[in-house]
Amino acid sequence: MDLFEYQARDIFEKHGVPVLGGVVATTPEEAREGAEKLGGGTVVVKAQVKTGGRGKAGGVKLAHSPEETAEKAEQILGMDIKGHTVHRVMIAQGAKIAEEYYFSVLLDRSNRNYLAMCSVEGGMEIEQLAVERPEALARIAVDPAVGIDAAKADEIVTAAGFADDVKASVAEVIQQLWTVFKQEDATLVEVNPLVKTEDGSIVALDGKVTLDENASFRHPDHEALEDKAAADPLEAKAKENDLNYVKLDGEVGIIGNGAGLVMSTLDVVAYAGEAHGGVKPANFLDIGGGANAAVMAAGLDVILGDEQVKAVFVNVFGGITACDEVANGIVGALDLLGDHATKPLVVRLDGNNVELGRQILTERNHPLVTLADTMDGGADKAAELANA
Ligand SMILES: Nc1ncnc2c1ncn2[C@@H]1O[C@H](COP(=O)(O)OP(=O)(O)OP(=O)(O)O)[C@@H](O)[C@H]1O
Ligand SMILES: [Mg+2]
Repeated sequence: MDLFEYQARDIFEKHGVPVLGGVVATTPEEAREGAEKLGGGTVVVKAQVKTGGRGKAGGVKLAHSPEETAEKAEQILGMDIKGHTVHRVMIAQGAKIAEEYYFSVLLDRSNRNYLAMCSVEGGMEIEQLAVERPEALARIAVDPAVGIDAAKADEIVTAAGFADDVKASVAEVIQQLWTVFKQEDATLVEVNPLVKTEDGSIVALDGKVTLDENASFRHPDHEALEDKAAADPLEAKAKENDLNYVKLDGEVGIIGNGAGLVMSTLDVVAYAGEAHGGVKPANFLDIGGGANAAVMAAGLDVILGDEQVKAVFVNVFGGITACDEVANGIVGALDLLGDHATKPLVVRLDGNNVELGRQILTERNHPLVTLADTMDGGADKAAELANA
Protein backbone atom coordinates (compact mmCIF):
# COMPACT_ATOMS: atom_id res chain seq x y z
CA MET A 1 0.00 0.00 0.00
CA ASP A 2 1.38 3.38 -1.07
CA LEU A 3 0.93 6.25 1.37
CA PHE A 4 0.25 9.90 0.74
CA GLU A 5 3.06 12.30 1.59
CA TYR A 6 1.21 13.64 4.65
CA GLN A 7 0.83 10.09 6.00
CA ALA A 8 4.53 9.43 5.43
CA ARG A 9 5.28 12.70 7.24
CA ASP A 10 3.25 11.56 10.27
CA ILE A 11 5.01 8.19 10.36
CA PHE A 12 8.42 9.86 10.05
CA GLU A 13 7.56 12.13 12.96
CA LYS A 14 6.45 9.15 15.06
CA HIS A 15 9.89 7.56 14.62
CA GLY A 16 11.87 10.72 15.27
CA VAL A 17 12.79 11.63 11.69
CA PRO A 18 13.09 15.45 11.50
CA VAL A 19 10.15 16.86 9.52
CA LEU A 20 8.46 20.26 9.33
CA GLY A 21 4.93 21.08 10.42
CA GLY A 22 2.26 19.98 7.97
CA VAL A 23 -1.54 20.30 7.86
CA VAL A 24 -3.91 18.63 5.40
CA ALA A 25 -6.63 20.67 3.68
CA THR A 26 -9.39 19.78 1.25
CA THR A 27 -10.66 23.33 0.60
CA PRO A 28 -8.96 26.74 0.13
CA GLU A 29 -10.55 27.87 3.42
CA GLU A 30 -8.99 24.94 5.31
CA ALA A 31 -5.70 25.76 3.60
CA ARG A 32 -5.89 29.34 4.92
CA GLU A 33 -6.57 28.03 8.45
CA GLY A 34 -3.69 25.58 8.04
CA ALA A 35 -1.29 28.39 7.16
CA GLU A 36 -2.47 30.33 10.23
CA LYS A 37 -1.95 27.28 12.44
CA LEU A 38 1.62 27.06 11.14
CA GLY A 39 2.26 30.63 12.24
CA GLY A 40 1.22 32.68 9.21
CA GLY A 41 4.70 32.71 7.61
CA THR A 42 5.94 31.19 4.36
CA VAL A 43 4.46 27.79 3.55
CA VAL A 44 4.45 25.36 0.65
CA VAL A 45 1.14 24.09 -0.72
CA LYS A 46 1.62 20.52 -1.92
CA ALA A 47 -0.72 18.32 -3.97
CA GLN A 48 -1.36 14.99 -2.21
CA VAL A 49 -1.44 12.40 -4.97
CA LYS A 50 0.20 8.99 -5.12
CA THR A 51 2.47 9.75 -8.03
CA GLY A 52 5.83 11.45 -8.54
CA GLY A 53 6.67 14.64 -10.38
CA ARG A 54 4.18 16.80 -8.50
CA GLY A 55 6.54 19.76 -8.41
CA LYS A 56 7.12 19.73 -12.17
CA ALA A 57 3.38 19.46 -12.80
CA GLY A 58 2.72 22.65 -10.80
CA GLY A 59 1.45 20.79 -7.75
CA VAL A 60 3.95 22.33 -5.29
CA LYS A 61 3.66 26.10 -4.75
CA LEU A 62 5.11 28.61 -2.30
CA ALA A 63 2.79 30.99 -0.44
CA HIS A 64 3.80 33.89 1.80
CA SER A 65 0.55 34.56 3.65
CA PRO A 66 -2.64 32.71 4.63
CA GLU A 67 -4.50 34.56 1.81
CA GLU A 68 -1.98 33.47 -0.77
CA THR A 69 -2.10 29.92 0.69
CA ALA A 70 -5.85 29.80 -0.02
CA GLU A 71 -5.26 31.06 -3.57
CA LYS A 72 -2.57 28.48 -4.27
CA ALA A 73 -4.70 25.71 -2.76
CA GLU A 74 -7.56 26.76 -5.03
CA GLN A 75 -5.26 26.38 -8.05
CA ILE A 76 -3.94 22.98 -6.99
CA LEU A 77 -7.13 21.34 -5.71
CA GLY A 78 -8.89 19.58 -8.59
CA MET A 79 -5.73 19.58 -10.68
CA ASP A 80 -4.97 16.42 -12.65
CA ILE A 81 -1.45 15.06 -12.15
CA LYS A 82 -0.67 12.07 -14.35
CA GLY A 83 -4.27 10.89 -14.15
CA HIS A 84 -4.61 11.50 -10.40
CA THR A 85 -7.11 14.15 -9.32
CA VAL A 86 -5.92 16.27 -6.39
CA HIS A 87 -8.49 16.03 -3.57
CA ARG A 88 -6.20 17.22 -0.77
CA VAL A 89 -3.22 19.46 -0.30
CA MET A 90 -0.71 19.56 2.49
CA ILE A 91 0.28 22.95 3.84
CA ALA A 92 3.90 22.52 4.88
CA GLN A 93 6.09 24.92 6.75
CA GLY A 94 8.50 26.57 4.32
CA ALA A 95 12.14 25.54 4.69
CA LYS A 96 15.11 27.72 3.84
CA ILE A 97 16.96 25.17 1.73
CA ALA A 98 20.74 25.22 1.41
CA GLU A 99 21.21 21.78 -0.22
CA GLU A 100 18.94 18.97 -1.50
CA TYR A 101 19.92 15.31 -1.09
CA TYR A 102 18.30 11.99 -1.97
CA PHE A 103 17.86 8.87 0.13
CA SER A 104 15.82 5.70 -0.27
CA VAL A 105 15.79 2.19 1.07
CA LEU A 106 13.76 -0.50 -0.59
CA LEU A 107 13.16 -4.19 -0.98
CA ASP A 108 15.44 -5.37 -3.77
CA ARG A 109 13.52 -8.40 -5.04
CA SER A 110 15.92 -9.44 -7.77
CA ASN A 111 18.82 -9.65 -5.30
CA ARG A 112 16.68 -10.94 -2.40
CA ASN A 113 18.01 -8.15 -0.27
CA TYR A 114 17.45 -4.56 0.78
CA LEU A 115 19.05 -1.71 -1.14
CA ALA A 116 19.85 1.81 -0.01
CA MET A 117 20.35 4.60 -2.55
CA CYS A 118 21.75 7.99 -1.71
CA SER A 119 22.97 11.09 -3.49
CA VAL A 120 24.20 14.57 -2.58
CA GLU A 121 22.40 15.78 -5.71
CA GLY A 122 18.76 15.21 -4.79
CA GLY A 123 15.69 17.12 -5.88
CA MET A 124 13.35 17.03 -8.81
CA GLU A 125 15.96 15.92 -11.36
CA ILE A 126 16.87 12.68 -9.58
CA GLU A 127 15.44 10.38 -12.30
CA GLN A 128 17.56 12.14 -14.89
CA LEU A 129 20.62 11.95 -12.65
CA ALA A 130 20.15 8.18 -12.19
CA VAL A 131 20.15 7.71 -15.96
CA GLU A 132 22.79 10.21 -17.05
CA ARG A 133 25.28 9.98 -14.18
CA PRO A 134 24.55 6.76 -12.31
CA GLU A 135 27.85 7.09 -10.45
CA ALA A 136 26.39 10.11 -8.62
CA LEU A 137 23.81 7.83 -7.00
CA ALA A 138 25.41 5.51 -4.44
CA ARG A 139 23.83 2.05 -4.24
CA ILE A 140 24.62 0.07 -1.12
CA ALA A 141 23.24 -3.39 -0.32
CA VAL A 142 21.75 -3.69 3.17
CA ASP A 143 21.85 -7.03 4.94
CA PRO A 144 18.33 -7.63 6.35
CA ALA A 145 19.78 -9.34 9.42
CA VAL A 146 21.85 -6.28 10.30
CA GLY A 147 19.95 -3.37 8.81
CA ILE A 148 21.33 0.16 8.71
CA ASP A 149 23.40 0.51 11.85
CA ALA A 150 25.93 3.29 12.48
CA ALA A 151 28.60 1.55 10.39
CA LYS A 152 26.27 0.98 7.43
CA ALA A 153 24.98 4.57 7.60
CA ASP A 154 28.56 5.79 7.52
CA GLU A 155 29.29 3.56 4.52
CA ILE A 156 26.28 5.06 2.72
CA VAL A 157 27.12 8.73 3.34
CA THR A 158 30.76 8.10 2.44
CA ALA A 159 29.83 6.39 -0.83
CA ALA A 160 27.46 9.26 -1.65
CA GLY A 161 30.26 11.77 -1.08
CA PHE A 162 28.78 13.93 1.67
CA ALA A 163 30.93 16.77 3.01
CA ASP A 164 32.48 16.14 6.42
CA ASP A 165 30.37 18.77 8.19
CA VAL A 166 27.04 17.02 7.37
CA LYS A 167 28.11 13.37 7.25
CA ALA A 168 27.28 12.57 10.86
CA SER A 169 23.90 14.33 10.93
CA VAL A 170 22.78 12.76 7.62
CA ALA A 171 23.93 9.33 8.83
CA GLU A 172 21.79 9.77 11.93
CA VAL A 173 18.66 10.61 9.89
CA ILE A 174 19.35 7.63 7.62
CA GLN A 175 19.31 5.36 10.67
CA GLN A 176 16.00 6.87 11.77
CA LEU A 177 14.58 6.25 8.28
CA TRP A 178 15.73 2.64 8.56
CA THR A 179 13.77 2.40 11.82
CA VAL A 180 10.69 3.55 9.90
CA PHE A 181 11.36 0.95 7.19
CA LYS A 182 11.86 -1.88 9.65
CA GLN A 183 9.29 -1.13 12.33
CA GLU A 184 6.49 -0.25 9.93
CA ASP A 185 7.22 -3.21 7.61
CA ALA A 186 7.74 -0.99 4.58
CA THR A 187 9.02 -2.09 1.18
CA LEU A 188 10.01 1.46 0.26
CA VAL A 189 11.01 4.57 2.18
CA GLU A 190 12.15 7.40 -0.08
CA VAL A 191 13.01 10.97 0.83
CA ASN A 192 13.53 13.40 -2.03
CA PRO A 193 14.59 15.95 -1.08
CA LEU A 194 16.30 15.35 2.21
CA VAL A 195 17.60 18.88 2.80
CA LYS A 196 20.19 20.80 4.70
CA THR A 197 18.59 24.04 5.79
CA GLU A 198 20.42 27.36 5.99
CA ASP A 199 20.91 26.85 9.71
CA GLY A 200 22.55 23.48 9.04
CA SER A 201 19.86 21.04 10.17
CA ILE A 202 18.84 17.99 8.16
CA VAL A 203 15.09 17.68 7.38
CA ALA A 204 12.96 15.28 5.34
CA LEU A 205 10.90 17.57 3.06
CA ASP A 206 9.10 14.87 1.12
CA GLY A 207 8.29 11.24 1.85
CA LYS A 208 7.21 8.22 -0.15
CA VAL A 209 6.40 5.11 1.82
CA THR A 210 5.05 1.79 0.62
CA LEU A 211 3.84 -0.60 3.33
CA ASP A 212 3.92 -4.36 2.96
CA GLU A 213 0.30 -5.52 3.18
CA ASN A 214 1.46 -9.05 3.98
CA ALA A 215 2.50 -7.67 7.35
CA SER A 216 -0.74 -5.82 8.07
CA PHE A 217 -1.66 -8.36 10.77
CA ARG A 218 1.18 -6.86 12.80
CA HIS A 219 -0.06 -3.30 12.28
CA PRO A 220 -3.71 -2.77 13.16
CA ASP A 221 -3.11 0.98 12.80
CA HIS A 222 -2.26 0.65 9.09
CA GLU A 223 -5.86 0.00 8.09
CA ALA A 224 -6.71 3.62 8.82
CA LEU A 225 -4.16 4.68 6.19
CA GLU A 226 -6.09 3.02 3.37
CA ASP A 227 -7.59 5.35 0.80
CA LYS A 228 -11.03 3.72 0.83
CA ALA A 229 -12.53 6.28 -1.58
CA ALA A 230 -10.03 5.35 -4.29
CA ALA A 231 -10.44 1.57 -4.01
CA ASP A 232 -12.24 -0.23 -6.82
CA PRO A 233 -15.66 -1.10 -5.30
CA LEU A 234 -15.53 -4.67 -6.62
CA GLU A 235 -12.02 -5.21 -5.27
CA ALA A 236 -13.12 -3.76 -1.93
CA LYS A 237 -16.08 -6.15 -1.80
CA ALA A 238 -13.83 -9.09 -2.67
CA LYS A 239 -11.42 -8.06 0.07
CA GLU A 240 -14.23 -7.99 2.63
CA ASN A 241 -14.90 -11.61 1.71
CA ASP A 242 -11.21 -12.57 1.78
CA LEU A 243 -11.24 -13.39 -1.93
CA ASN A 244 -8.14 -13.11 -4.11
CA TYR A 245 -9.66 -10.94 -6.82
CA VAL A 246 -8.06 -8.66 -9.38
CA LYS A 247 -10.23 -6.76 -11.83
CA LEU A 248 -9.09 -6.88 -15.45
CA ASP A 249 -10.43 -5.25 -18.55
CA GLY A 250 -12.28 -8.05 -20.40
CA GLU A 251 -15.74 -9.60 -20.75
CA VAL A 252 -15.34 -13.18 -19.47
CA GLY A 253 -15.60 -13.49 -15.69
CA ILE A 254 -13.31 -16.18 -14.28
CA ILE A 255 -13.61 -18.25 -11.12
CA GLY A 256 -11.24 -21.04 -10.27
CA ASN A 257 -9.57 -22.67 -7.29
CA GLY A 258 -5.84 -22.37 -6.88
CA ALA A 259 -3.77 -19.53 -8.29
CA GLY A 260 -2.07 -21.77 -10.87
CA LEU A 261 -5.33 -23.06 -12.28
CA VAL A 262 -6.80 -19.55 -12.43
CA MET A 263 -3.71 -18.18 -14.19
CA SER A 264 -3.86 -20.88 -16.83
CA THR A 265 -7.62 -20.33 -17.18
CA LEU A 266 -6.90 -16.68 -18.01
CA ASP A 267 -4.50 -17.81 -20.73
CA VAL A 268 -6.91 -20.34 -22.19
CA VAL A 269 -9.80 -17.85 -22.21
CA ALA A 270 -7.64 -15.13 -23.80
CA TYR A 271 -6.65 -17.61 -26.50
CA ALA A 272 -10.22 -18.83 -27.07
CA GLY A 273 -11.39 -15.20 -27.21
CA GLU A 274 -9.36 -14.59 -30.34
CA ALA A 275 -11.89 -16.66 -32.29
CA HIS A 276 -14.84 -14.84 -30.67
CA GLY A 277 -14.47 -11.13 -31.35
CA GLY A 278 -11.36 -10.75 -29.19
CA VAL A 279 -13.12 -11.10 -25.82
CA LYS A 280 -10.75 -11.29 -22.85
CA PRO A 281 -10.78 -12.39 -19.19
CA ALA A 282 -12.56 -9.86 -16.95
CA ASN A 283 -10.76 -10.74 -13.75
CA PHE A 284 -8.63 -13.08 -11.72
CA LEU A 285 -10.54 -14.79 -8.91
CA ASP A 286 -9.12 -17.62 -6.87
CA ILE A 287 -11.61 -19.02 -4.39
CA GLY A 288 -8.80 -21.04 -2.83
CA GLY A 289 -8.13 -24.65 -2.07
CA GLY A 290 -10.50 -25.20 0.83
CA ALA A 291 -13.31 -22.93 -0.29
CA ASN A 292 -16.85 -23.82 0.68
CA ALA A 293 -20.19 -23.06 -0.96
CA ALA A 294 -20.52 -19.66 0.71
CA VAL A 295 -17.19 -18.58 -0.76
CA MET A 296 -18.33 -19.63 -4.24
CA ALA A 297 -21.50 -17.57 -3.76
CA ALA A 298 -19.49 -14.51 -2.64
CA GLY A 299 -17.17 -14.88 -5.65
CA LEU A 300 -20.03 -15.13 -8.13
CA ASP A 301 -21.68 -12.15 -6.51
CA VAL A 302 -18.56 -10.03 -7.04
CA ILE A 303 -18.12 -11.09 -10.67
CA LEU A 304 -21.76 -10.66 -11.62
CA GLY A 305 -21.53 -7.14 -10.18
CA ASP A 306 -18.98 -6.24 -12.87
CA GLU A 307 -20.96 -4.55 -15.63
CA GLN A 308 -18.33 -5.39 -18.21
CA VAL A 309 -18.80 -9.13 -17.66
CA LYS A 310 -20.94 -10.82 -20.33
CA ALA A 311 -20.38 -14.47 -19.39
CA VAL A 312 -18.64 -16.36 -16.59
CA PHE A 313 -16.38 -19.39 -16.73
CA VAL A 314 -16.19 -21.42 -13.53
CA ASN A 315 -13.23 -23.78 -13.74
CA VAL A 316 -12.82 -25.91 -10.64
CA PHE A 317 -10.68 -28.88 -9.85
CA GLY A 318 -12.25 -30.57 -6.84
CA GLY A 319 -9.71 -31.31 -4.15
CA ILE A 320 -10.25 -30.38 -0.52
CA THR A 321 -13.41 -28.71 -1.72
CA ALA A 322 -15.14 -31.44 -3.66
CA CYS A 323 -17.13 -30.76 -6.83
CA ASP A 324 -20.49 -31.34 -5.15
CA GLU A 325 -19.78 -28.52 -2.72
CA VAL A 326 -18.85 -26.26 -5.59
CA ALA A 327 -22.01 -27.24 -7.47
CA ASN A 328 -24.09 -26.50 -4.37
CA GLY A 329 -22.30 -23.17 -4.12
CA ILE A 330 -23.24 -22.28 -7.68
CA VAL A 331 -26.84 -23.34 -7.22
CA GLY A 332 -27.04 -21.52 -3.90
CA ALA A 333 -25.54 -18.37 -5.35
CA LEU A 334 -27.95 -18.37 -8.30
CA ASP A 335 -30.93 -18.83 -5.98
CA LEU A 336 -29.64 -16.07 -3.75
CA LEU A 337 -29.12 -13.69 -6.65
CA GLY A 338 -32.49 -14.54 -8.26
CA ASP A 339 -33.33 -12.03 -10.99
CA HIS A 340 -29.98 -10.28 -10.53
CA ALA A 341 -28.27 -13.26 -12.14
CA THR A 342 -28.60 -12.49 -15.83
CA LYS A 343 -25.31 -13.70 -17.26
CA PRO A 344 -24.58 -17.16 -18.64
CA LEU A 345 -22.26 -19.41 -16.64
CA VAL A 346 -20.13 -22.11 -18.16
CA VAL A 347 -19.05 -24.63 -15.54
CA ARG A 348 -16.26 -27.15 -15.87
CA LEU A 349 -15.80 -29.47 -12.93
CA ASP A 350 -13.25 -32.19 -12.47
CA GLY A 351 -11.64 -34.04 -9.57
CA ASN A 352 -13.22 -35.20 -6.31
CA ASN A 353 -16.93 -36.09 -6.52
CA VAL A 354 -17.15 -34.83 -10.07
CA GLU A 355 -20.13 -37.08 -10.94
CA LEU A 356 -22.10 -35.85 -7.97
CA GLY A 357 -21.26 -32.23 -8.78
CA ARG A 358 -22.45 -32.55 -12.34
CA GLN A 359 -25.57 -34.36 -11.22
CA ILE A 360 -26.48 -31.50 -8.89
CA LEU A 361 -26.15 -28.96 -11.69
CA THR A 362 -27.95 -31.15 -14.24
CA GLU A 363 -30.88 -31.71 -11.86
CA ARG A 364 -31.15 -28.04 -11.03
CA ASN A 365 -31.21 -27.39 -14.79
CA HIS A 366 -30.75 -23.64 -14.41
CA PRO A 367 -31.30 -21.84 -17.74
CA LEU A 368 -28.10 -19.79 -17.35
CA VAL A 369 -25.77 -22.73 -16.65
CA THR A 370 -23.95 -24.73 -19.32
CA LEU A 371 -21.76 -27.69 -18.33
CA ALA A 372 -18.47 -28.18 -20.13
CA ASP A 373 -16.42 -31.39 -20.19
CA THR A 374 -12.98 -29.86 -20.69
CA MET A 375 -11.13 -26.67 -19.83
CA ASP A 376 -10.58 -25.77 -23.50
CA GLY A 377 -14.20 -26.51 -24.35
CA GLY A 378 -15.44 -24.43 -21.42
CA ALA A 379 -13.21 -21.50 -22.32
CA ASP A 380 -14.42 -21.59 -25.90
CA LYS A 381 -18.08 -21.73 -24.87
CA ALA A 382 -17.67 -18.88 -22.37
CA ALA A 383 -15.90 -16.72 -24.95
CA GLU A 384 -18.64 -17.47 -27.49
CA LEU A 385 -21.37 -16.50 -25.01
CA ALA A 386 -19.52 -13.33 -24.01
CA ASN A 387 -19.39 -12.31 -27.66
CA ALA A 388 -23.04 -13.14 -28.39
N1 LIG B 1 8.47 22.51 2.90
C1 LIG B 1 9.17 23.01 1.87
N2 LIG B 1 9.83 24.18 1.98
C2 LIG B 1 10.54 24.67 0.94
N3 LIG B 1 10.66 24.06 -0.24
C3 LIG B 1 10.03 22.88 -0.41
C4 LIG B 1 9.26 22.29 0.63
N4 LIG B 1 8.74 21.15 0.17
C5 LIG B 1 9.20 21.02 -1.10
N5 LIG B 1 9.95 22.06 -1.45
C6 LIG B 1 10.63 22.26 -2.75
O1 LIG B 1 9.82 21.77 -3.78
C7 LIG B 1 10.46 20.74 -4.50
C8 LIG B 1 9.46 19.68 -4.86
O2 LIG B 1 8.84 19.18 -3.68
P1 LIG B 1 8.58 17.63 -3.48
O3 LIG B 1 9.84 16.87 -3.51
O4 LIG B 1 7.74 17.46 -2.32
O5 LIG B 1 7.74 17.33 -4.76
P2 LIG B 1 8.16 16.44 -6.02
O6 LIG B 1 9.50 15.85 -5.83
O7 LIG B 1 7.91 17.17 -7.26
O8 LIG B 1 7.16 15.42 -5.90
P3 LIG B 1 7.47 13.91 -5.95
O9 LIG B 1 8.51 13.66 -4.89
O10 LIG B 1 6.14 13.38 -5.68
O11 LIG B 1 8.01 13.61 -7.32
C9 LIG B 1 11.54 20.23 -3.57
O12 LIG B 1 12.61 19.68 -4.31
C10 LIG B 1 11.93 21.47 -2.81
O13 LIG B 1 12.86 22.22 -3.55
MG1 LIG C 1 10.08 14.84 -4.04
